Amino acid sequence: MELYIDTANLDEIKQANDLGVLDGVTTNPSLIAKEKIDYGKRLEEICRVVKGPVSAEVISVEYEGMMKEAGERAKIAPNIVIKLPITVDGLRACKALSDKGVKTNMTLCFQPLQALMVAKAGAFLVSPFIGRLDDVAEDGMDLIQRIRQIYDNFGYKTKLLAASVRHPKHMVDCALAGADVATVPFSVIKQMLQHPLTDVGLKKFLEDYKKAFGG
Ligand code: G3P
Repeated sequence: MELYIDTANLDEIKQANDLGVLDGVTTNPSLIAKEKIDYGKRLEEICRVVKGPVSAEVISVEYEGMMKEAGERAKIAPNIVIKLPITVDGLRACKALSDKGVKTNMTLCFQPLQALMVAKAGAFLVSPFIGRLDDVAEDGMDLIQRIRQIYDNFGYKTKLLAASVRHPKHMVDCALAGADVATVPFSVIKQMLQHPLTDVGLKKFLEDYKKAFGG
């Protein structure tokens, strides 16, 4: 399973990358707004740190604007993936970019047929938002399972990227459901390494050792 970090914060990206298990980065307009920095400049900085896929989301909502932005962003680095909303214009842009060999991440996926359509258009990644579905009393994990089943039924190559991951339980369920990738806030990446019994056990090991041998 691949692990991406979902942030535009360079410090967090560097810290996550230093763990040695980071496969990519996703950004979105809200995340970049928090950083109050030029989007293109921040993408250049991220691509200097992370060599795996780095998703850059378009701001335009019309096909022509999406294609123009995609052209500009794709020049930043070879690992840039163009992130597009799943709309009629987004689907057209996905197909046109995929035909040209430009990788896309189709975002704001909330139902399985959206995932089916973008796979047909050649998307590299699809981003179902599990946390936001849970927020409105729907079942984010059910969406992951349904998309997995549909992609497996037809052998679609689009990678299933679980997004809007809020806590470690989401991660466990995504891994069990066969999500290819999860994009995760840095706080959750750190939680993935934690268990209170690990801390208790380590403390006891060191205490026992000290008692026996001093130091
Ligand atoms: O990258 C998009 C997605 O991960 C957003 O997550 O927590 O804002 O729903 P969230």
